[in-house]
Amino acid sequence: MTKMENVKLFKFNIIGDSRGSLVSLEQFNNIPFEIRRIYYIFDTKRNVERGNHAHKKLEQVLVCLSGSCSVILDNGIEKKEVKLDYPDIGLYIGKNIWRSMVNFSQGCVLMVIANEKYNPSEYIRDYDLFLKTVKK
Ligand code: TYD
Repeated sequence: MTKMENVKLFKFNIIGDSRGSLVSLEQFNNIPFEIRRIYYIFDTKRNVERGNHAHKKLEQVLVCLSGSCSVILDNGIEKKEVKLDYPDIGLYIGKNIWRSMVNFSQGCVLMVIANEKYNPSEYIRDYDLFLKTVKK
């Protein structure tokens, strides 16, 4: 993936043995912030698009624990699509990135780790307002 500010791909260390695999996530270690919330998206219906917003400050790391989905990232100038299809990959998304989640496979479980509790006033849900915000 070519670089986009406030977006990073993490490759987590898999601790594997003859029994299988394990990934451990720790705040300020492989997650670069204090973890204040975890939510997950599952049982997504066919052809559904989720997200379609940006955040004023919130930082998140998305990990697809099962199945696959794609995240379309938009900084107001360019767009990138990242496919998440294995639980050792984390997609970090910082502030002022418009994101849409698409192409959820059957059985997809998308976990999101965030540095703040849920706060609806922290969302930018209007795309034109988003463009005005990032062009300031
Ligand atoms: P929504 O923002 O539409 O999810 P997405 O961006 O993934 O498409 O959220 C769906 C509903 O869930 C909405 O009523 C707000 C609520 N919600 C919470 O209560 N807590 C949370 O942490 C999140 C992310 C959403």
